Amino acid sequence: METLRDVTHIDNVKLNEEENAVVIIDQTQLPNKTEYLTLGTAKDLYDAIFELKVRGAPAIGICAAYGIYVLARQIETEDYDTFYAQFKKDKDYLDSSRPTAVNLSWALNRMERVVTSNQDKPVEEIKALLLAESKEIQAEDMRMCRAISEYGLALLHDGDGILTHCNAGPLATSRYGTALGPLFLGKERGMEFHVFADETRPLLQGARLTSYELQKGGIDVTLICDNMASIVMKNGWVQACLVGCDRIAANGDAANKIGTSGVAILAKYYGIPFYVLGPTSTIDMNCPTGDDIKIELRDPDEIKKKFYTEPMALEETKCYNPAFDVTDHNLISGIVTEYGVARAPYVESLKDIFAKKEQETLHNK
Ligand code: MRU
Repeated sequence: METLRDVTHIDNVKLNEEENAVVIIDQTQLPNKTEYLTLGTAKDLYDAIFELKVRGAPAIGICAAYGIYVLARQIETEDYDTFYAQFKKDKDYLDSSRPTAVNLSWALNRMERVVTSNQDKPVEEIKALLLAESKEIQAEDMRMCRAISEYGLALLHDGDGILTHCNAGPLATSRYGTALGPLFLGKERGMEFHVFADETRPLLQGARLTSYELQKGGIDVTLICDNMASIVMKNGWVQACLVGCDRIAANGDAANKIGTSGVAILAKYYGIPFYVLGPTSTIDMNCPTGDDIKIELRDPDEIKKKFYTEPMALEETKCYNPAFDVTDHNLISGIVTEYGVARAPYVESLKDIFAKKEQETLHNK
């Protein structure tokens, strides 16, 4: 990755040339190695998502959409019911790989609708429609990220200090990213930002991925430990916080990487705007509040052993390792979507965002 465009247009998830496997960048190897993996079986796909080889809500959805197409291709039958039974089994299996990011089930449900609404068509034709839908899901994500980047950039000023948590850049999406999108777009337009990237314990997405993407893209980035967010805010070095999201409830509560809600509480204390950036594919209007969001619990060894040469706690020490937390809507200054910035009260403004989306969909038909 040598230029800004190499960073913003990285091919992190795609189909291979034969369109019979999904190719991803193994994000667990970054920043030290750029390694591509080819995923051709249900287990390969499940493991890649579960182990965060592909991660970030939109990227997981895109990988699952391509993945379910690849698996559907392998179903050898001309009988619709036999085809659908196997498709559903594969779909449910992939859907169980991670619970919090709604993009996973959102993309898989979209793919399932292609199957169920075309029952009258030959299976081969349904497979072709699935291929088209998976490509459309990725193309839409590119458009959404670009629009989010524009709306997000309009909230910032040249020279601003920005704090971000986890990774919501091009690696987590397709093109530009969500929370990092405005920064890359601003850079393209000659603006300068000074970014503080929380390292994001325990899996270090901030250190391994965000600081890598920003550094390679020529954006000034300073890596900090998560517990340093308060001091950089107190020093007056942060003018806005930008974070991604994994599921936004209908009332504006937003699940994102563990530690995000702490950043929001600090931002409120220091009077710094706290923005959540995400596409409508991450907003779950069927989920009333943050309390209804399932939070993924992960292996304690991620805290005790991962990245250390020796364990950093006794074997018998108990650990609590939730992968996400929910930021209360009261702490959020705005939710930046591809249809504009939703502001409190979110129960109303998120409905307006979806009304705009529906209008645009009708207009394009
Ligand atoms: O566990 P991860 O690394 O998949 O968590 C990712 C995040 O929390 C991101 O902020 C979120 O998915 C948004 S990506 C545009």
